[in-house]
Amino acid sequence: MSVLTFRNVSLRYPPRAGRGGTSEQLVLDTIELQIASNELVAVIGRSGSGKTSLLNLAAGFLNPSSGTITVDGEPIRGPGADRAVVFQDDALYPWLDARDNIAFPFKLKGIPLAERRARADALLDRVGLADAGDRRIWELSGGMRQRVGIARALAAEPRFLLLDEPLGALDALTRTRMQEFLLRIKAESGAGALLITHSIEEALLLGTRVVVLSPNPGRLTAEIEAGFNAEVQNGASVAAVKASPLFKRMHAGLTGLIHSTSDEEIAA
Ligand SMILES: Nc1ncnc2c1ncn2[C@@H]1O[C@H](COP(=O)(O)OP(=O)(O)OP(=O)(O)O)[C@@H](O)[C@H]1O
Ligand SMILES: [Mg+2]
Repeated sequence: MSVLTFRNVSLRYPPRAGRGGTSEQLVLDTIELQIASNELVAVIGRSGSGKTSLLNLAAGFLNPSSGTITVDGEPIRGPGADRAVVFQDDALYPWLDARDNIAFPFKLKGIPLAERRARADALLDRVGLADAGDRRIWELSGGMRQRVGIARALAAEPRFLLLDEPLGALDALTRTRMQEFLLRIKAESGAGALLITHSIEEALLLGTRVVVLSPNPGRLTAEIEAGFNAEVQNGASVAAVKASPLFKRMHAGLTGLIHSTSDEEIAA
């Protein structure tokens, strides 16, 4: 079991040049957060509340201004193969086919061509794209691209999956299928997950825990335990779970929490 820990973490961005501003912007304020391997922590908050900044810190793309971020007690010193990132818009290489996009991390590790292609094919199979290996990225639908991105993230066998609105650009039907898919992949990989989302419904459905990030500066203002993902993994349909009275009550409760900490609309 691994644990990713934010302890007393604050983040300031420097003043922006050319805007006449001289003061630093405090974006995240004294964040305390733990994510264990058996959890999927969903972070919800309005646009600009600092969600991506939080994920960039966990990924090691940014350093905190104060506080510490550790994996199993070891401070993060930059990006690492133990933490894989999936971006909102797929960050795939358009000049490579699906297989070689997934095989890319293996290339960096110096694994021979035949083996890395075989391993990429196994990952494609795992994400339900066994027949798509030869396709160029522009020949794939949005949902398929996100699955290739997730397969590539899994290639490094990370301890944590850091997901920044991975389903945000998908239509409602594809999104529902991908939500079930994400839960399955997360469980199979044994990795802990940090999921950023704008959708209260998605946070409740997928999160073992949902935390609310309120803006200006970003602070974690509420946290709730949710058990719906276990129901979906035990075979309940997403539609049935969303229609249950408990889900609706918790959705309303979470909506109230977010609106009491924010003056702007968040998508239902
Ligand atoms: N590299 C940067 N330099 C300076 N300011 C930044 C930088 N990245 C983000 N910001 C500012 O920090 C704040 C939080 O941005 P962030 O991208 O973390 O929000 P977010 O919650 O992910 O928003 P969204 O839901 O729109 O993706 C914003 O005010 C943004 O303008
Ligand atoms: Mg963002």
